This record gives sequence, structure tokens and C-alpha cells, in this order.
Amino acid sequence: MWINEILQKNKPILALSPMADMTDSPFCQIVRQIGGADIVFREMVSAEAVVRDNAKTLGMTDFVEAERPIVQQIFGSDPLTMARAAAIIMEHANPEGIDINMGCPVYKITNNFNGCALMKDPERAASIIREIRSAIGTVPISVKIRLGWSDPDDFKKFIPIIEKAGANLITMHGRTKAQGYSGNSDWNRIAEAKKIVQVPLLANGDIHDPHQVNQALDITKADGVLIARGALGNPWFFKETNAINSITNARNESVSMGERIRVVLDHARLHVAHYGERGIVTFRKHVAWYFKTSKIGFEVPGIKEIRMQLVRVNSLHELEEILKTIKY
Ligand SMILES: Cc1cc2nc3c(=O)[nH]c(=O)nc-3n(C[C@H](O)[C@H](O)[C@H](O)COP(=O)(O)O)c2cc1C
Repeated sequence: MWINEILQKNKPILALSPMADMTDSPFCQIVRQIGGADIVFREMVSAEAVVRDNAKTLGMTDFVEAERPIVQQIFGSDPLTMARAAAIIMEHANPEGIDINMGCPVYKITNNFNGCALMKDPERAASIIREIRSAIGTVPISVKIRLGWSDPDDFKKFIPIIEKAGANLITMHGRTKAQGYSGNSDWNRIAEAKKIVQVPLLANGDIHDPHQVNQALDITKADGVLIARGALGNPWFFKETNAINSITNARNESVSMGERIRVVLDHARLHVAHYGERGIVTFRKHVAWYFKTSKIGFEVPGIKEIRMQLVRVNSLHELEEILKTIKY
């Protein structure tokens, strides 16, 4: 199973966190091309939609071989529907694992008892895991959770229940649902979770820079980290983290502008090939991340104006032309 294979490498697990509309096939391919991530989690898909045979949703679980090892995340609240969806995805795409979203705080998800709402109903959460287990056999099941719904200690009761039900790995964002994205991810509470958890645990939340990975691991003692926003506009995150940790190559330099532009264009081409010509419109959100000053890491003359043009880009050709105007 992918979890044991990675743990045998005797290094912390570096994982790309699932992000809706972001960790799709083109972005995961880019992360893989650059290298360094041990596992990539694909964006959540609705179990209901998969079971209803919604072609678009099932298509979201497609991937190319180069993206492996890959885990597909699903969300839902009905145990049998979740199990059926997991089985359909295994048959259709055959990823290395299935991840269950028990952390999403967004109203339209929790409203239907999906996502983090499951932390309020541990028995339902356990039943979902048990049903998925009986539907997909030994395929690893991971569960993504928060500290809790409103109580930041909910995880203490929740973790033993989902482990007993059959979770093979837990990934934990150190905020409650009530917090949303406010405050900080509480790495100290993730450390408390690590003390009680039996299965491997990945720490998540506010690890925005490769230099913070060791700090998060020192505090949490987790088996690895799950990186979300830190990897947006920075698919080099994982490679850089490995470079920091390797004694022979301890330097961590900013990615050059030439390399950034090359990767943005590669990514844009994959995106357009995947979604069609109009796909460039949904690529704008990636461009915005790639050209944030905090992601670039150094001053670039005129970047503010160029960024304004980039986030309105209407074609691949136009993107190429705007990028040519960047002076470096
Ligand atoms: C744009 C975006 C989309 C997200 N979509 C998902 C999702 O589909 N499933 C999920 O479990 N978490 C999702 N998350 C939460 C992230 O995986 C992660 O837990 C959170 O952003 C905290 O990690 P970070 O500080 O590294 O960003 C999303 C976050 C962002 C920013």
C-alpha cells in the first residue's frame, strides 16, 4: 500500500493537499514533473454525483500515469452512497487510495452533513469508513479532519473511532470548522493528536514555506505534512523541501523567473489541453498565485501591471505575449 511504501523511505511524507478547482490533473502533472512530492491528493468529488453517473464528476477522477501515486478524495454523508462511489472510482480510475473529506467547513458542504459536519456525528463517520472498506477491500482509506467542529479537542474522541472503523491514515488541519481560516493552524494540538493516533498522521495548515516544514514536524512529530496554499503558484515546494533537508544540497534559492515562466506555460498548455480553449479563463486563478510577490520571492520591475493583465488573459497566445514583457 502507498502509505507503507512511502514510510519505508524513512523520511517524512510530503503530500499535496486536496484543493477544489486546483489539484486537478494538469496541476498534479506539473507537481509530478517538478518532483519531490510523495503523494498527491486530488480535489474532492461528490459521492452522490459519482453514483448518479455524472460524467463530468467521474471525469474529474481521471489522471495520467505520471501522476501516481495518487489519492482521490470524496465527500458525502450516506455510508452506502460513499461506498458505492469509492468502488466506482476504483474501477474507473484505480487510484492508490480513497480519501474521505471530513474537514471541509464550507456551508454548502456541511449543510448536507458532509465534510466537517461528520465530526459532529462520529458514528456516521465510522459507518462511512466501514462501508467503504467492505466495498474496496484493502485499498488504503485516509480521512482528512480538522481539530473539531467548534471544540478544538473534538479530535481526541473522534480519532480512536475512525481508526477503529478502519482508517489507514489521518490528515489533520489544525483549525476547527468554527474557525474557518481565521487564527493559526494549531500545531501543538496536532502534536497532541500524534500522541494518541495509531496510524500515520500528516500535519496540515499554515505550512506556507519549505523552511516551515521542519518546524511543523519538530512541533507535531507527525509522519509528514500536507501542503495546500503553499504549493499554489509554487509547485517547486516539495523539491525545495527535499533540497533543504539534503545535506549535500542545503541551498534554497528562489526559483528563477525563466523557470517560473517555463512552468507557467507548460501548466497553461496542459490546462487548455484538458479543459479546451476557454480553459484559459479558469487558469487565471493559477496565474494569480504564480505571480504573487510572496511566491516570486524577489522584486520584478512592473510586475503589478503585468499581473493585472495576466489575471484577465483570454487566450494561450495572449498569455505567451504578456509573459514576454516580464523583464528579468
Ligand atoms: C482553494 C482551496 C480549495 C480547497 N479544497 C479542499 C478540498 O477539496 N478538500 C479538502 O479536504 N480540503 C480542501 N481545502 C483545504 C486544504 O486542503 C487545506 O486543508 C487548507 O487550505 C489548510 O492548509 P494550508 O494552510 O496548507 O493551505 C481547500 C483549500 C483551498 C485554499
